[in-house]
Amino acid sequence: MRNKFKIFSGTSGFPLAQKVAKSLGITLGKAEVVRFADGECRVRIEEKVKGMKTFVIQSLCPPVDENLMELSLFGDALKRSGAEKIVAIIPYLGYARQDRPHRPGECVSSQVVAKIIETAFEEIITLEAHSPQALSYFRIPVVHLSTVWLLSGKIRGYGVVAPDEGRRKMASNFRQILKTWVLEAEKERDKKTGKIKIKNTQDLKKVKGKKVVIVDDLIAGGGTVILVAEAAKLAGAEKIWAAVTHPVLVGEAPLRLADSVIEKVLVTDTIPVPPQKRFKKLKIVSVANLLAEEIKKL
Ligand code: R5P
Repeated sequence: MRNKFKIFSGTSGFPLAQKVAKSLGITLGKAEVVRFADGECRVRIEEKVKGMKTFVIQSLCPPVDENLMELSLFGDALKRSGAEKIVAIIPYLGYARQDRPHRPGECVSSQVVAKIIETAFEEIITLEAHSPQALSYFRIPVVHLSTVWLLSGKIRGYGVVAPDEGRRKMASNFRQILKTWVLEAEKERDKKTGKIKIKNTQDLKKVKGKKVVIVDDLIAGGGTVILVAEAAKLAGAEKIWAAVTHPVLVGEAPLRLADSVIEKVLVTDTIPVPPQKRFKKLKIVSVANLLAEEIKKL
């Protein structure tokens, strides 16, 4: 019997999409993505999808705007090809950090992105979004998956450190699974420049002589986990790991992490990490089975 669903991948969805398809015992749907000299994009679906459930896997990682536009064009092409249901699988939901105006006069990017996506899709599946607020802007159903079980499976005997209040819930989930202790560092970000500093609080002193894992939703420039790790080291931590869902890894982040006091950086494959960004301490665990299970449910 012919499959009643098809999975497509946008440019930033590979190689995760291939793993998801393999896990489901199918091949990826064929599509043509053309990028013109002026930067515009065209998407064409090269499969019969009429009456079928369809999924497009695309992360909103750099180049964020290109990936967002390409995702929307996939949705439109599928609609025009007669797909019955069109679901966006967005392993990494970009723009989620601007989920409210942090200063008067600022835009709310998360809401704008939600509006763009829901014009082309009927449902989204995403993983470890930066905040519940960013997801609240969608007026279509959202399936929000956690990567805590997956990442914690690689950790034993470590206490958990949240870099800030925003990761309190994630850190507490790690604590429950790892049956360990948790504490929260105090991160301060300059609202204008974005520069951060970590306060070496009384609480952080509890890491003395202990193994700790710093957990976070994403590593962009690496400043957050590296500064928290340095503060933990200063407070006497014996061994420091980081467990972070989305390896955005911009600029010098791979080099800085490689040279840092962090001994292991656990991430997932929600964002492809090209060979030139890989470093010895980096360990990537796949979310492919998690997504495949979710697709089966639909
Ligand atoms: C911020 O609130 C996020 O949860 C991350 O901690 C942050 O965005 C990571 O960025 P970077 O690696 O540039 O410090």
